[in-house]
Amino acid sequence: MSDTNPERAGGATGVDPRALAQTIVFSGVTVVRDGRTALDRVSIGFEEARIGIVGLNGSGKSTLLKCIIGLVKPSAGSVSVDGRDAVGEARAIRRATGFLFQDPDNQIVFPVVGEDLGFGLKNHGYSRAETADRVEAALTRLAIRHLASRRIHELSGGEKQLVALAGVLALAPKTVLFDEPTAHLDLKNRNRLRDVLQALPEQAIVVSHDLELVADFPRVVMIEAGRIVRDGPADEVLDHYREANR
Ligand SMILES: Nc1ncnc2c1ncn2[C@@H]1O[C@H](COP(=O)(O)OP(=O)(O)OP(=O)(O)O)[C@@H](O)[C@H]1O
Ligand SMILES: [Mg+2]
Repeated sequence: MSDTNPERAGGATGVDPRALAQTIVFSGVTVVRDGRTALDRVSIGFEEARIGIVGLNGSGKSTLLKCIIGLVKPSAGSVSVDGRDAVGEARAIRRATGFLFQDPDNQIVFPVVGEDLGFGLKNHGYSRAETADRVEAALTRLAIRHLASRRIHELSGGEKQLVALAGVLALAPKTVLFDEPTAHLDLKNRNRLRDVLQALPEQAIVVSHDLELVADFPRVVMIEAGRIVRDGPADEVLDHYREANR
């Protein structure tokens, strides 16, 4: 069975990620923040089910992800998601595009895990019963049901990150943007996240310094000083990245 088989590509869920994938297009995007150029005339399209993004600290990776949901506005150029403008139609884009922030504290609204997850769902118009079901399913999917009644500020960094991911997945987005999802995780949770990622029916764009996490992706993009300098299969791009930064 090849990897292009939809059942396999969708992992255990049997859902074909390509059926969900959105088309994200950057057209001549420059972002200047506090006089520094964070992105420099970036033109690139993303439509694959799995895309990795690598680059050194400060190279522009988080800025690139934030442009997709209109959190950072281009100084020049534009970003579109399935034809919607990322600045003008950010609300619609965010309904279909989840974002797992580099710092999970950015994601958290309510003090208790279950309430926090429920809040996002109620905000999206789900009924009380649907909300309870979806919270339960998201916690189960990440094997963190035991955290449901814990206070979030008392959780470890890794536990917070998993809770934040549960909150994103509960909303059933088409695309999830992951900003260094394994940064706070121990080996066991890192491997759990890798497995979740592999089985995810959603499209995933993954920024990571954990290169093994994206090593089997069909496409990895390397950013350097705000510019795309490599774009291709993971092994080629990661070899170049390692070689360039020995
Ligand atoms: N809120 C901000 N205000 C001003 N400049 C910013 C802001 N956020 C990021 N920058 C600058 O934009 C550039 C790109 O930052 P960005 O966060 O996108 O890098 P990154 O590739 O995600 O780095 P890291 O691997 O450290 O997370 C950096 O020079 C950074 O200092
Ligand atoms: Mg970053």
